[in-house]
Amino acid sequence: MVIVRTIEELQEAKKVLLGSIGFVPTMGALHHGHLSLIRQARKENEHLVVSIFVNPTQFLEGEDLDSYPRKDEADIKICELAGVDILFMPTIDQMYERDELCIGAPAIKGYVLEGEKRPGHFDGMLQVVMKLLNLSGASRAYFGKKDAQQLALIMQMVKNYFMDVEIIPCEIVRDDNGLALSSRNIYLDADEKQRALALSRSLKRATKLVMAGELNVEAIKKVMLNVLKDADEVEYVAIVDREFNALKEVEIGNTIILVAAWVGKPRLIDNLWI
Ligand code: PAJ
Repeated sequence: MVIVRTIEELQEAKKVLLGSIGFVPTMGALHHGHLSLIRQARKENEHLVVSIFVNPTQFLEGEDLDSYPRKDEADIKICELAGVDILFMPTIDQMYERDELCIGAPAIKGYVLEGEKRPGHFDGMLQVVMKLLNLSGASRAYFGKKDAQQLALIMQMVKNYFMDVEIIPCEIVRDDNGLALSSRNIYLDADEKQRALALSRSLKRATKLVMAGELNVEAIKKVMLNVLKDADEVEYVAIVDREFNALKEVEIGNTIILVAAWVGKPRLIDNLWI
């Protein structure tokens, strides 16, 4: 594995990669969720590029940019063991100049749910993902369904800008108890970890209701909100179609149920595709 920190080093390292390139962009503090993307990319491509970059433009004022967990040493070992060919760890200066051309998230899909609570977040996320996809030269890039809206917006960007890369959605990886893995879970103490289970539990309850024939969105949301009482503050519970339009009734095969809530220090998100 080669570790590269500049654009020039990356271009140089890529020259020897002749076949298909799988690419997994991350912000580091790698866990089994990231690792499942890395493993899938390893299997499906001749070469594997991973990036670790805590992208400042996708953090809002007052968010956790400065305290975002950084574990470079452990991350490097994980990537090495996972068979990564190139690990790209750029500095902010390498990625951005002062007066940048910016792309923006779409006016509707980019400004509901996460986009409404974190206005501007998706602009910065798309900006860096566009850069990283172009730099990696990937044939396929792997993203988790955990960040469902992020995934949908990246797929739209690739479509709208006719980008030559295949986006591969990957399943959500959870702890045995159901908690969706997240780099921010390390902020949770034991009690908060227990209470954080309310998110996945509310989604499980929703599945049960749907399986029992309940398709009414308001009825499902009401039950979920009741389960979510263990969280400190619920930001939203939403039931939308795969294009992120609000639904009145669950459409099996075309629905995502999403939840965002604060538990202790971190803001957690989770979702379920049905
Ligand atoms: P980060 O939060 O580090 O996540 C990197 C990738 O791992 C994303 O595609 C995310 O959806 C996926 N992921 C995280 N937790 C997961 C889990 N429990 N199961 C499955 N996949 C999971 O998302 C970002 O970084 C950034 O926004 C990025 C795309 C790198 C742009 O800066």
